[in-house]
Amino acid sequence: MLKCTLRTGPPSNRAAFCLSARDRPACYPARRLDGCLPALALAGHCRPEPSRGGKMAGMGASKSRLSARISAITESATLAVDARAKAMKAAGRPVIGFGAGEPDFPTPGYIVEAAQRACAEPRFHKYSPTPGLPELREAIAAKTIRDSGLNVQASQVLVTNGGKQAVFEAFATLLDPGDEVLLPAPYWTTYPEVITLAGGVVVPVPTDETTGYLTTVADLEAHCTDRTKMLVFVSPSNPTGAVYPPDLVAEIGRWAAARGIWVVTDEIYEHLVYGQARFTSIPVAAPELADRCVVLNGVAKTYAMTGWRVGWMIGPQDVIKAAANLQSHATSNVCNVAQAAALAAVSGDLSAVARMRAAFDRRREQMTIMLNKIPGVICPLPEGAFYCFPSVKGVLGKQLAGHQIRTSAQLAEVVLEEAEVAVVPGEAFGAPGYFRLSAALADADLEVGLTRLGDLLTQAG
Ligand SMILES: Cc1ncc(COP(=O)(O)O)c(C=O)c1O
Repeated sequence: MLKCTLRTGPPSNRAAFCLSARDRPACYPARRLDGCLPALALAGHCRPEPSRGGKMAGMGASKSRLSARISAITESATLAVDARAKAMKAAGRPVIGFGAGEPDFPTPGYIVEAAQRACAEPRFHKYSPTPGLPELREAIAAKTIRDSGLNVQASQVLVTNGGKQAVFEAFATLLDPGDEVLLPAPYWTTYPEVITLAGGVVVPVPTDETTGYLTTVADLEAHCTDRTKMLVFVSPSNPTGAVYPPDLVAEIGRWAAARGIWVVTDEIYEHLVYGQARFTSIPVAAPELADRCVVLNGVAKTYAMTGWRVGWMIGPQDVIKAAANLQSHATSNVCNVAQAAALAAVSGDLSAVARMRAAFDRRREQMTIMLNKIPGVICPLPEGAFYCFPSVKGVLGKQLAGHQIRTSAQLAEVVLEEAEVAVVPGEAFGAPGYFRLSAALADADLEVGLTRLGDLLTQAG
């Protein structure tokens, strides 16, 4: 049975968020959303009840088969939508997928060739240092100075299995049970799961389309308590595409430093900004933050290398050393061949990402225009990453294809079945009432998919 818990709300309501792994089973029935369909388990807030192991006789019968901590984790909603769209396609249905969070381009040839050469080198057939190949750590430090202006040593870089492992290790290394983490919402679906797993308590700081999905120091301050340890700062943002202006980045950084709050900043979309928007690294804008700041990054989005699994975290020496100790017991070194590919990527120029950026720029404009023509849909123009994040609140409460539409998760189900268009519902990002659509698909598919979406939603009444 599915119980759906809603995580957003004012800080006074925090006890109902059920985000601590410790608390979660007890407060599972916190709030139930009507209209939950089984597939909405992918919406992030609809969790299967933890397995209790049934009524078995004999020793161990009272013990759960799975730990409560791990049972509480749901599958990544974005990967689930993508997998479902691919399965429907394989079954012969002409699904157009807006779910994928990965560039629709192959990895540039010179990077692939570097990996081919590495395969033939015997030294890469062996274990290598856990924190990363020394030449890659050097190159990441140099690339960081080049791209964001942050001055770091190679010893402050830990190479990880994708940005995701860096996300996991950052929270695992810094959080103790009960530490509160300010997480501006809409947020990327992985952060709350990993913060919770590390024992932290997620404190969502809501934003919406009226402010371009930007938070402010006043909002952050209003959600702070004496247990606040950390702020998660992501610009450009997945899922909203929001890019913080430099002044606001500096203001938030200075506020965090003055408050003694750690900042974990995810810069994985640093090169994907459009128009007048500029990427600003928070420890560069507020240098006083440097000793309490961890930067996460990776090659996946910049070089179309999602499958290679190379990311990194940058931080103070003691944090990097502790995270490397953790990694030494979990996964050891990242695949050497993939590290050699990443070395070619970060030491090369940025011409490949410039070509992808031009395509994403064209598509985000086209998508925004088409989305805003649909009745009940409002979409700000995203300034970064490759996602549109429209509000679909204007469609909620209406009848569509024989359904009374109550939630964006339910609407996403109906859209998939009726229009054969896959989108990720906002519930997956702590923002019910929205959809996330990726611009990482061919222009022709984009046109057909949004036309189908528009034709369907126009029938809502
Ligand atoms: C904001 C953000 N951070 C980190 C990642 C992780 O990237 P990867 O693990 O593929 O390197 C993603 C992937 O979608 C992301 O959107």
